[in-house]
Amino acid sequence: MGKPCSLLLCPALLFFFLLVPMALSFQYREPYNQPNKYEGSSELVNLVYHMGPVLASPIKLYIIWYGQWNPYHQAIIRDFLHSLSSPPSSSNPSVSDWWRTVRLYTDQTGANITANFFLSGEHSDPGYSHGKYLTRLMIQSVIKSSVWTHQNALPLDPHNGLYLVLTSPDVAVEDFCRAVCGFHYFTFPAIVGVTVPYAWVGHSGTQCPGMCAYPFAWPKYTGGGRDKNRGDVLNPPNGDVGTDGMVSVIAHELAEISSNPLVNAWYAGDDPTAPTEIADLCMGVYGSGAGGGYVGKVYTDSRRRAYNVYGVKGRRFLVQWVWDTSRNRCFGPNAID
Ligand SMILES: *[C@@H]1O[C@H](CO)[C@@H](O)[C@H](O)[C@H]1NC(C)=O
Repeated sequence: MGKPCSLLLCPALLFFFLLVPMALSFQYREPYNQPNKYEGSSELVNLVYHMGPVLASPIKLYIIWYGQWNPYHQAIIRDFLHSLSSPPSSSNPSVSDWWRTVRLYTDQTGANITANFFLSGEHSDPGYSHGKYLTRLMIQSVIKSSVWTHQNALPLDPHNGLYLVLTSPDVAVEDFCRAVCGFHYFTFPAIVGVTVPYAWVGHSGTQCPGMCAYPFAWPKYTGGGRDKNRGDVLNPPNGDVGTDGMVSVIAHELAEISSNPLVNAWYAGDDPTAPTEIADLCMGVYGSGAGGGYVGKVYTDSRRRAYNVYGVKGRRFLVQWVWDTSRNRCFGPNAID
C-alpha cells in the first residue's frame, strides 16, 4: 500500500525484511506487514496434514500467572477462556462460534478437535521465581515449578492438560517484542517429567503494544494514531490494550496448539522447524475484507471499542480469524459473506 519505497528508506519494509526471517517457528509473529493476508480463497496455501494427533479429548486448561498481575486483567482472560466452550448466548456470534472453524480439523483417527475446554487450575508466581527475563526454554522450568511446588501446585496432567504461561507486563522473554508475541510447543520429559502441550503469551502493554496488541496500537514508526492508509487505531473492547491484545494472541495459540500440538499435524510449508499454522495464515484478519493493514469488517460501539465475538458475562472480544479447511480461506463467525 502507499508509495513504493526502497529497502533502506522505508522503515516498514526494513522492519519486515529484518524481522520476519528471524521469526522462529510455531509462534505468533507480528501481524503488521505480513506479505499475505489470505482473506480470499487462495490456491497458494498448501496446508498439509502430517499424520500426528490433534487435541481431540476435552482439554483441561491450567494457567500460570507469572509475575505481578492486575486482577482486572486476569478476569478478562479468564472470561475469554470460559467463553471457548460455553453454549452460544443470546448475543451472536460467540467465541464458541469462532472455535467451530478450529473444530473442522481432524487427525488420522477421524477425531475432530475438541469443543470442550475446562479452566481446571491456576497457579500464581508473583515472586518471579525464575527472574524477570525468561529464555524460551525457561518457560518449561516455570511450568515445572508450578507442578512441583509446595504451594498451590498444579496437577501434572499428560492426558488432557494444556498449560498456559502468561507473563506480566514487566517480564521480558527471549524474542518477545522483537520477533514473537507468543508461541506454543510441548514440554520435554527431562525438564517437566512428561510431554504435554503448552503455550506462552506475554502482556505487551508497556513493552511493545504496537507490535503485540495490534490493532489496538500501531508500531511506533507509523507515527501512531490516525492514518488514512492504514485505518484507525481501535479501542480495546475490555479497556486494556495489552490484555485485549493478549486475548487474540491466546486465541491464535490455542487454535494452533489444538491443530498441531506436537508439531506434526496441520501446517503449511516444507520446513517442520518453521511451520505455517492455521492461525499464521490469517494474521491481522478479523473480519471480511481484511488486508493491507485493514482489520476487516468488525463491530464497534459508540466509543470505538472494537470486537467481533461475544463471550460470557456480556464480554466482547476481538479475535483474529483462522484458516477454514472446508472453505479454503480465512474465516470467522462475523463474516458477512
Ligand atoms: C469434523 O471435521 C469434518 C472434516 O473437516 C467436518 O466435516 C465436520 O463438520 C467436523 N465436525 C465438527 C463437529 O466440527
